[in-house]
Amino acid sequence: MKVAVTQPIYEQSLQRLRDSGLDVVELWRTDPGRVQTLTDVHGVVCQLTDRIDATFFEDKPELQVVANVAVGYDNIDVTAATAAGAVVTNTPGVLTDATADLALALLLATARRVPEGDDLIRRGDFEGWELLQHPMGVDVTGQTLGIVGMGRVGQAVARRAHHGFGMTVLYADAQAVPEMEQALGARRVELPELLASSDFVSLHAPLTEDTRHLIDRDTLASMKPTAILVNTARGPLIDEAALAQALADGVILGAGLDVFEAEPTVHPGLVQLHERVVLTPHVGSATESTRRRMSDMAVDNVIAVLQGRPALNPVGS
Ligand code: GLV
Repeated sequence: MKVAVTQPIYEQSLQRLRDSGLDVVELWRTDPGRVQTLTDVHGVVCQLTDRIDATFFEDKPELQVVANVAVGYDNIDVTAATAAGAVVTNTPGVLTDATADLALALLLATARRVPEGDDLIRRGDFEGWELLQHPMGVDVTGQTLGIVGMGRVGQAVARRAHHGFGMTVLYADAQAVPEMEQALGARRVELPELLASSDFVSLHAPLTEDTRHLIDRDTLASMKPTAILVNTARGPLIDEAALAQALADGVILGAGLDVFEAEPTVHPGLVQLHERVVLTPHVGSATESTRRRMSDMAVDNVIAVLQGRPALNPVGS
């Protein structure tokens, strides 16, 4: 049976596919960027930058599994996959800690203006300690953190913020998460209350039609002018043009962003802002061990399905 791997993954994972007797097509070598040209494949290992839409499934009667090397799967039309008899899988759990660590890194770097201090030294402008020093930050310890989407990553961020920094945790989610309420005293509130009351807002919701532009001009205006927004989930949760304007106008204080609306493009209004705006290139899960585990998890899903076993991580379960 044939498995197409759309973009580079770890060699150890490719070998697992071969060792399972599967015929591996390394699509990035033969037909880069042309995922739509695939025809007679039984499995696909793809990445979040591959758009797997309804037309993709039209001419692949043998396709049984599409394994995304990511926890988010908004790049795949799951309804069309199901109708075509193919299971979609993702890589939950293995990237939770790495992504939560990065959310905290962005929160801290933005609040304490770490990149600005680093730039200042490299420019040769450090003139020694002063009481009224630049860059001056804002407090993190003891502040209120609003978590939008209390799934695995949201919970991991909440634990770090509460245990590590004594933060009060609010959260907005369709589901109550009693464990977080008991363990951290986290309080579930509606999104408007969360936005109005939080010193830091961290986004951890999946991208769906309901969450697209959850943060727009109006919701930004409802936040505290001293608030810092962090996004390690998906770029389109935020109307990026509205955010760039809000930051320039002082509607909110700052933003730490790892994901963008039209990656790899970043809104020029954000790139121009150096004060209290920290940008990283979608590296939430980018530690060597995490990425290896994601790569293996995706191929293990393909192997399971093509050997007639249930998928290990079917989406929606
Ligand atoms: C990365 O963004 C992922 O969804 O795993």
